Amino acid sequence: MEKIAFIGMGNMAQALAAGFISSGKIKGEDITAFAPNQEKLHRNAEKIGFIPASDSRSAVKDAGIVIMACKPYQIIQVLEGLGDALNGKALISVAAGWDYKRYSEVLDPSVRFQFVMPNTPAMVGEGVLLFEETNSLEQEERREIMELFGTVGDVHILPSRLMGIGGAVSGCSPAFIDMLLEAFADAGVKYGLPRETAYRLIAKTALGSAALQMATGEHPGALKDKVCSPGGTTIAGVAALEEAGFRNACIKAIDAVMQRG
Ligand SMILES: NC(=O)c1ccc[n+]([C@@H]2O[C@H](COP(=O)([O-])OP(=O)(O)OC[C@H]3O[C@@H](n4cnc5c(N)ncnc54)[C@H](OP(=O)(O)O)[C@@H]3O)[C@@H](O)[C@H]2O)c1
Repeated sequence: MEKIAFIGMGNMAQALAAGFISSGKIKGEDITAFAPNQEKLHRNAEKIGFIPASDSRSAVKDAGIVIMACKPYQIIQVLEGLGDALNGKALISVAAGWDYKRYSEVLDPSVRFQFVMPNTPAMVGEGVLLFEETNSLEQEERREIMELFGTVGDVHILPSRLMGIGGAVSGCSPAFIDMLLEAFADAGVKYGLPRETAYRLIAKTALGSAALQMATGEHPGALKDKVCSPGGTTIAGVAALEEAGFRNACIKAIDAVMQRG
């Protein structure tokens, strides 16, 4: 595997670097990273095991793969700082909105690139990683990179036109699902459950329900039906959720994301 350089070592880059190293597919000594706050970078290097760099050009010098993991609005400035240091390398970018088309307008033709949209559960190896179908990586290189990213979650390839909605559903929904956990825990606390117990019960129930759906491949509606006995308590809860516009609220949340994107 080629050496990897990270530009930016925030939440997402840390999740990726830690996952890559613990998978054994790459050694920490073959990963370099640059971020402006050197004290924080060195602390993370110690914890995760990569090599810290004092500037972006030296970070990418020996790397074949560069992972752009700073904020989207910082990218132009970062690319200016890197200059020709990226030439001939593979650039994997996880910055929201920086897709193939946008990079193709600013990168040297010798840079091969791929837009990937990850989500925060990648921090515990349970992420979703959307690979834009259009890319300029070499075939074998892309296969290897997809395998590497697969160490922190499920990899999916999406056409460019679906990266926005895919990113909304997998990238933004962790926040919505956290709200759901909080809301059900509030209900549990209202009826006397201790706060910590309530969070644990609902989080494990969400995890288990998702795992059951993925393991069986059953339609979520069919799994819901199995829990709803006629005239029972669960169907009363389902009816209450529908009355409060539960489904519509979820769809409206994604509408709002798409309108901003
Ligand atoms: N978090 C998510 O859920 C998520 C999901 C999908 C995609 N993404 C994408 O992942 C990227 C990083 O997100 P994040 O949540 O990890 O953000 P973050 O925690 O704020 O990390 C940003 C990193 O960029 C570094 N940075 C700032 N200015 C820089 C510069 N001029 N050159 C190089 N590095 C610089 C920061 O370094 P200092 O700390 O030293 O300033 C920090 O290490 C974003 O583009 C975002 O769109 C994030």
